[in-house]
Amino acid sequence: MIVGILGCGAIANLLINKVKDNEDIEIKYFYDRDIEKAENLAKISQGFVVLNFHEMIDKVDLVLESASQSSVKEFALDVIKEGKDVIIMSVGALLDKDLWNEMKNISKKTGAKIHIPSGAISGLDAIKAASVGEIKKVLLTTRKSPESLERDITEEEILFCGKASDAVKMFPLNINIAATLSIASNLDIDVKIIVDPKINKNIHQVYVEGTFGKLFSETENLPCETNHKTSMLAAYSAIHLLNTLNDSYNIGS
Ligand SMILES: NC(=O)c1ccc[n+]([C@@H]2O[C@H](COP(=O)([O-])OP(=O)(O)OC[C@H]3O[C@@H](n4cnc5c(N)ncnc54)[C@H](O)[C@@H]3O)[C@@H](O)[C@H]2O)c1
Repeated sequence: MIVGILGCGAIANLLINKVKDNEDIEIKYFYDRDIEKAENLAKISQGFVVLNFHEMIDKVDLVLESASQSSVKEFALDVIKEGKDVIIMSVGALLDKDLWNEMKNISKKTGAKIHIPSGAISGLDAIKAASVGEIKKVLLTTRKSPESLERDITEEEILFCGKASDAVKMFPLNINIAATLSIASNLDIDVKIIVDPKINKNIHQVYVEGTFGKLFSETENLPCETNHKTSMLAAYSAIHLLNTLNDSYNIGS
């Protein structure tokens, strides 16, 4: 499988190093608005930099988006229209209902697959299964360091309490999993974001209630060294998804 990368930052760097030894996957084309970042990754993997994103679409089987919500809005439809698969990391963009519905409709026509990794939370497999019944409530409580949320504070503070659709607009670099949970549960979920000067981890608690019963999960994430907003587990979830796309079996719902 030939893969192109849109956005050559923290996630893409981790991915390149972990996927290098998989003979079935060739990560070959790189695009970033910061050309130096694309050049660095192309050098490591002996791939090619494209100066215009569209140059890579007909050369790849799959595009991994690890750039920004705006890049999803700008490029995702063009990838899917050509029948090419896409992994979306900047999931917040998909809470734009018009964009998400158009992406799903076009992918049905062209056969392109849209993949959304589970990111830095646990329990998404159970939530997908729970969605067969009725999910009545989902609450995501996220606790992050001041560095991760770019706040200069000394006391714990609740920064946001509201719906996922607003959270992803107000914190576009921080709360993609609110969008992932919303799509998986088919609800605009409740979100609380807390900045906590006592921690240096990204802690996500997920509470779900439905006709299946209740679940609670807590994930204490170490941040990526090169981007404290991003958790290692989020990058690992993309790497695991990519590494197992061609497997003959699937674990989890
Ligand atoms: N789904 C999840 O659970 C999850 C978890 C962590 C991060 N993310 C998201 O994944 C994305 C990548 O995360 P990261 O930590 O690698 O970020 P990063 O800031 O380290 O890297 C992003 C790279 O993309 C480039 N970029 C941004 N917008 C672009 C555009 N429109 N066109 C071309 N290049 C563009 C930047 O120059 C940068 O090099 C972010 O949107 C982040 O919010 C999602």
